[in-house]
Amino acid sequence: MKPISVLWRGVFALALLLYFANDPALAQSPQETAAQRQQTQPYNNAPVWREVRKEGQEHFTTTRGREAGVLIQTYGQTWRELRNSWIVPIAGWLIIAFACAIGLFYWGRGPIKVREGPTGRLIHRFTPLERGTHWTMAISFCLLGISGLITMAGKYVLLPVIGYTLFSWLAEIAKTLHNFLGPVFLASAVVFIVLYIKDMLPRRYDFTWFLKGGGMLTGEHIPSGKFNAGEKLWFWGGVVVLAFVVCVSGLILDFPNFDQSRLVMIIASITHSVAAGFMIALSFFHIYMGSIGVEGAYEGMRYGYVDESWAKEHHAFWYEDVKSGRIQAGSAEGTPEAPRLAPASRDST
Ligand code: HEM
Repeated sequence: MKPISVLWRGVFALALLLYFANDPALAQSPQETAAQRQQTQPYNNAPVWREVRKEGQEHFTTTRGREAGVLIQTYGQTWRELRNSWIVPIAGWLIIAFACAIGLFYWGRGPIKVREGPTGRLIHRFTPLERGTHWTMAISFCLLGISGLITMAGKYVLLPVIGYTLFSWLAEIAKTLHNFLGPVFLASAVVFIVLYIKDMLPRRYDFTWFLKGGGMLTGEHIPSGKFNAGEKLWFWGGVVVLAFVVCVSGLILDFPNFDQSRLVMIIASITHSVAAGFMIALSFFHIYMGSIGVEGAYEGMRYGYVDESWAKEHHAFWYEDVKSGRIQAGSAEGTPEAPRLAPASRDST
C-alpha cells in the first residue's frame, strides 16, 4: 500500500476518533442520557420500556406467581388487535347474517305445516326429565349468548346508545350472569347428551335426508327416525362439539386461579369467542325450527306430546316403531297435559 494512502487513512481514522470522542451523546453514560432525556422529553423512558418489553422477559419483582416478572407481554397487543378488529366484527356480522337468512326463509317458505291436520290422538315424545334438561340448557344458553354478546360487542353497539352509566351496569350484570350460568349450561348439556345420545346415532336413511336437503325447499316430507339428520347434526356439531369447546375454554377463563399463563388465557379467549359466535349463529336455525318454523314441534318439547299426524309426516320411521310397539312411547290418555294439545279434535266433536 502506498505510504500516502496509509497517511490519509490514518488522518481519517484520527478525525473519526476525535469526532466521536467529542460527541456528547456517546461520551455520556446511559444514566446521563436518561437524565438528559427527562429534561428534553419528560416521562419518555422509551429505552427502558423497550428493554422491559423485550420478548416478554421476566424481570426481578417481589411479587409471587407465574409471569409476575413479566411487565409487558408482547402478544397481548396481537390478541387485542385480533379480537377487536377481526373476531368481534366477523362474529357480529355472522350472527346478523344468519338472523336475516332465517327471516328471509320464513318470509319465503313460511312455517312447515302438518298437511293432514291434527288427529287429536297424541303420542308421547319427551319425558319430563328430557324436557327439563332441554329447557335448562336452552334458557341458560340464550342468557349466556345475550350476556356474552354484551361483553363482546356491547361497547360498540350499546354504549353509544345508552351511555356510560347504564352500560356499565348492564356490562357488570352480564359478566356476573355469564360467569355463573356457564357451569349450569355445561352440566345441563352433559345430562342432555347422556339422555338423547341413543336416538342420535347415524342411520342409513339419514343420508337420503341429507341428499334431499330434508325437503326444506321442496316441501317433501323425508322419512326419518325420532330425530332427522338435520337435528342429529345440530346435536353432534352444536351440543357435543361446539358446546364442549365453548365450555372448556369458558371454564379456563372463568377460573383463572389454576396458574394459567397469559398465553393460555389468550388462546382460551379467542377459542371461546369464535366457537360461541358460531354456536349462537347456528342455534338461530334450531330455535326458529323449534318455535315457529315447524308447526307442532314446540308443543312436543313444551308438553311432551305430539299429534300422530305430526309424527307420521316428520318422523315416519319413529311413528311406525311406536305404532308397531317396537318403541314404548305411550299415549296421552290419563295424562294431565293431553287435553290442552288437541284443540282441533275437541272442536270437531
Ligand atoms: C330457546 C329456544 C329453543 C327452542 C324453542 C327449542 C325447541 C326445541 C324443540 C321443539 C325440540 C324438539 C324437536 C323435535 O321434536 O324433533 C328441540 C330439540 C332439541 N334442542 Fe332445542 N330449542 C331451543 C334452544 C336450544 C338450544 C340453545 C340448544 C343447544 C344449546 C338446543 C338443543 C336441542 C337439541 C340438540 C335437540 C334435539 C335435536 C333437535 O330436535 O334439534 N335447543 N328443541
